[in-house]
Amino acid sequence: MELNEIKAIVKEKLSEKRFYHCECVMNRCIELAKKFGYNTDIAAKVGIAHDIAKEMPSDSKLKYVEENNILIDEIERENPTLLHAKIGADIAIKKLEFSEEMGQAIRAHTTGIPNMSLLDKILFIADRTSIERGFQDIEYLNSLLDKSIDEAVIYIIDKKIMLQIEKRAAMHTDSIIARNYLLKNRGKI
Ligand SMILES: [Fe+2]
Ligand SMILES: [Fe+2]
Repeated sequence: MELNEIKAIVKEKLSEKRFYHCECVMNRCIELAKKFGYNTDIAAKVGIAHDIAKEMPSDSKLKYVEENNILIDEIERENPTLLHAKIGADIAIKKLEFSEEMGQAIRAHTTGIPNMSLLDKILFIADRTSIERGFQDIEYLNSLLDKSIDEAVIYIIDKKIMLQIEKRAAMHTDSIIARNYLLKNRGKI
């Protein structure tokens, strides 16, 4: 499916504000894809579609995972907003002709996963550092990106963990596992 068709479908499902976020993430994905030698068209599609399921009400999310045999864990059941990643991936593969690789980037965009692909990392970083987010340490983050994409992912996960600690909120174990994996293997991938 062409980028413009995907854009039109995503636009219908989201509020103006969220769609603008998706456009900004798409632009950041393109920027990062160019920087790291990845296909810009694929990165753009993943960027625009990543939050396609974000505004689905919680009960619909739980219904969707049940009807589509998507496995969920305790943390996701308690915090269904996290499910927009798994559901978004499922919708993108079934309705937007996304490959499994593209679906995985959407599935991994909120928590991270062990052994992230380059596309997973591009989307993960783009989602936190798109222009409208006003990411606090953007210059430092960009300097990390000049050194290694893994360092940038680790930095973002660190900030996420600290934020969850401040809020005394649960941390998804996938983020810890993703971080451990990157720490162990950084520079090797
Ligand atoms: Fe998201
Ligand atoms: Fe997002």
